[in-house]
Amino acid sequence: MTRTILEVDRLALVYTGRGRDVNAIQDASLLVKEGEAIGVAGESGSGKSTLARAVMGLLPPTTSRIVGGRIVVEGVDATGFGPSDWQSLRGSSVAMVFQDPLSFLNPVVRVGRQIAEGIALQDPHADRKARTRELLELVKLRPSVIDAYPHELSGGMRQRVMLAIALGCRPRLLVADEPTTALDVTTQGEILALLDELRRTLGMALVLISHDLGVLRRLCDRIYVMYAGHTIETGRTAQVLGAPAHPYTRGLIAASRLTRGPDGRFSTIGGDVPSLQQRITACPFQPRCGSAMPVCAEMPPFLDTAEPDHLGRCWLLTPEPGGAPALPPDTRASEARNVGA
Ligand SMILES: Nc1ncnc2c1ncn2[C@@H]1O[C@H](COP(=O)(O)OP(=O)(O)OP(=O)(O)O)[C@@H](O)[C@H]1O
Ligand code: SF4
Ligand SMILES: [Mg+2]
Repeated sequence: MTRTILEVDRLALVYTGRGRDVNAIQDASLLVKEGEAIGVAGESGSGKSTLARAVMGLLPPTTSRIVGGRIVVEGVDATGFGPSDWQSLRGSSVAMVFQDPLSFLNPVVRVGRQIAEGIALQDPHADRKARTRELLELVKLRPSVIDAYPHELSGGMRQRVMLAIALGCRPRLLVADEPTTALDVTTQGEILALLDELRRTLGMALVLISHDLGVLRRLCDRIYVMYAGHTIETGRTAQVLGAPAHPYTRGLIAASRLTRGPDGRFSTIGGDVPSLQQRITACPFQPRCGSAMPVCAEMPPFLDTAEPDHLGRCWLLTPEPGGAPALPPDTRASEARNVGA
C-alpha cells in the first residue's frame, strides 16, 4: 500500500496580529501519498500559502494559532509542534520552495555556501563539496554557479538554486508555492519540467500551488480547490477539471479559459470573497452562487462524494441537504457534465 506522507484533517487557523483576527483557514483537508503530485488551486486570499506554510511549520509563531484540526507528517502528529520540532522535520521529510527566491536567499553569501549549509544541517558528516556539485547537477546548473552571489544569477537560475537547497535534505515531500509566477514563460516551462522530472526520478511527492489550472492539469495527479479558507473540491485532476462538482470550480475554470460571454465580456465569478474576520457558518460561496438554495445560507455543507475519489463541499451533492429536497444522482451527474460549458 502507498504510504501517506502528509495528512491535513479539517484544519482551522487564525492570524491574530494587526489588531484583528483573520480566519485564513477554516476547514481545510489535504492528503498526500508517497510520490504523488498534488495541485492546490484557488483565487487570491483563499489560504493556499497559509496552508503550505502551516504544513511546513513556517507560520509566524506569535501572530498565528491553530484552532482546530490536525497536521500529520509521516504518521507523526505535528499540530502542536514548536519551532525546533519543525526545524528537524524540515531537515528530513519536507522542504519548500517559494515564489521569490531573492527573499529566501542570503544576498551576501555565495550560492555554493548556502547549498552547503543546508546539507550540513541535514548531515554534519556529508562531503559537502561533492554533494553541492551533485545537487547543482540535479537542478541542471553549471558547477561555476558555486562562486556566484544570488544577484549575479537570472530569476530561473535563482529558482534552481532554491530547489537545490530544498533537495539537500532529500525530502520525501516538496511544497512549491507559485514557484514560477515571477518568471518569463519560457523559464516557467523549464522550471516546471524540472520539478516534474525531479519528482519522478527522486520518487518525491509534490504539492504545487498555482493559479494556472493548465499547469496543474499537466503536472498533477490530484487537485484540491480552496475557497475562503475551505477545501471546496478535491479529486483526480481529470475529474476536477473535466467535470467539476462545485459551482465555484466551474466558475474558476470558465474564468481561466478567458472566454467571452454573449455580452462580449470575459467570464468572471461575480461578487466578493466573504470577510475572514469571523468564522463562516454557512456555505462560503453562497453570496456568489447562482445555484444557492435556502439551506446554503443556514448550514455549512461538508465535503461530500460526487463520485468515487471525487469530493465537493456543496449541498447539491448531498441527497438531503439540511432537509432540502434530494437531488437524484442523474441530476448530479448531468450538472457535472455541464461544467464550464
Ligand atoms: N501574516 C499574516 N497576518 C495576517 N493575515 C494574513 C497573513 N498572511 C496572510 N494573511 C491573510 O490570510 C488570508 C489568506 O492568505 P494567503 O496568503 O494564504 O492566500 P493565498 O491563497 O496564498 O493568496 P495568493 O494567491 O494571493 O498568494 C488573506 O486574507 C491574507 O490577507
Ligand atoms: S452549497 Fe449552495 S451556495 Fe454553496 S456552492 Fe452549493 S449550491 Fe452554491
Ligand atoms: Mg499565496
